[in-house]
Amino acid sequence: MDLLLDLSAARGRRRGIETALRDAVRGGRLLPGATLPSTRTLAADLGVARGTVVAAYAQLVGEGYLAPGPDGHVVRSRSVATTRTGASAVAAPLVDLHPGEPDPTSFPMAAWLAALRRAARDAPADVFAYGDRQGARQLRVALADYLGRARGVVADPDRIVVCSGAVEGLRLLAEVVGGRIAMEDPGLFVHRRVVTRTGATVVPVPVDELGADPTGLDARAAVLTPAHQFPLGMALAPERRLAFVEWARRTGGLVVEDDYDGELRYDRQPVGAVQGLDPEAVVYVGTASKSLGPALRLAWMVLPEHLLEPVLTRIGTSTTVPTLDQLALAELLASHQYERHLRRRRLAYRDRRDQLLAALGPDVEVRGVAAGLCALVVLPTAEHEDRATALAIERRIRLFGLGPNWHGERRFHGVLVGYGRPPAHDLRRSIEVLTELLGDVLAG
Ligand SMILES: Cc1ncc(COP(=O)(O)O)c(C=O)c1O
Repeated sequence: MDLLLDLSAARGRRRGIETALRDAVRGGRLLPGATLPSTRTLAADLGVARGTVVAAYAQLVGEGYLAPGPDGHVVRSRSVATTRTGASAVAAPLVDLHPGEPDPTSFPMAAWLAALRRAARDAPADVFAYGDRQGARQLRVALADYLGRARGVVADPDRIVVCSGAVEGLRLLAEVVGGRIAMEDPGLFVHRRVVTRTGATVVPVPVDELGADPTGLDARAAVLTPAHQFPLGMALAPERRLAFVEWARRTGGLVVEDDYDGELRYDRQPVGAVQGLDPEAVVYVGTASKSLGPALRLAWMVLPEHLLEPVLTRIGTSTTVPTLDQLALAELLASHQYERHLRRRRLAYRDRRDQLLAALGPDVEVRGVAAGLCALVVLPTAEHEDRATALAIERRIRLFGLGPNWHGERRFHGVLVGYGRPPAHDLRRSIEVLTELLGDVLAG
């Protein structure tokens, strides 16, 4: 184990080592449970006598910062650092209903490991070199095949760019396009912030029961969630899909199609991608965050020709996604295990959705349940929503209000229930905790 200690402030050597270790523990650089280097190793690294380190460790054991363990000295959990990191540990939710996240325990670990092993075994040595900034070719080829078949995307591997999450794709596009960028209102607040941070101006486009409406739109690009509007949950109506494509053709604008959960549709045929209507006017953005897990940070864009170079220039010289992970996903796609996994998850999430609806009963208005991993439970007033989110914090339930997703005025209210997130064995309890909370909010 390497340990970097700042001894510059040292008076004596032993005192210097003690102070540096104490500061590292207090400041959280050394976390509870961390094992320190052996006294022999640290002494050699610092160029001091071993006895000096032994004495410094002994002093910190006495002060309660360290404890001797079978494999060496470890940082004790009741140190000051614990209080700091402990704050988030205390805040760890008892029930996690984070909207739009898949159940992490459903990750297809066996298939992923097998795919990773195959990918690593067959990969040339340069898999460990700086990867193709556009993404591994094998993945782009596999994606082109899959997206064409399953999502109706016109996808040429040479037009696909692999990126580190849909959010990264959106950031790159906002940088390239700049100026006025239309975003659905309501829409994911994180995306609004990302676009704003690039210096672009977000133009809110109100969403009605047919989805967003491009009438009179003055913008360079429009970011849409056509298959399943986030957070209200409707599919963009066919006439609106056409209207956006026509708007883009007429004005030279760009439609950015965020197909974040288009693969998870429950009650009817999947809604195909808008991109298929005009691949030169629409950027298609897909992600593995809902199908596999957001920790992979694996997403892809299918770009019109004129955007390819500007986007690649902004990516720089190397891919932003680990090449081995890209190759593993390529394997999963090519072997159709990805689709098999999705088919199983669709059934499981539809069942969860049905359990949630049954528990909420007919008197609660719920939207957006035809697809995805999250339902909008509508509440009568902003006060109800605020009370629900405050109670959720108090009861350590991870539950988000609709509010932050409005770019302008909050037009109606509710909470976003991520029924995909709890592990299967805990779903019933999670739903009970939610219904109890909603009962209290509506009664109060
Ligand atoms: C509307 C929307 N788009 C995209 C994503 C996925 O983003 P990423 O691929 O960055 O995880 C999410 C995830 O929550 C989302 O809600």
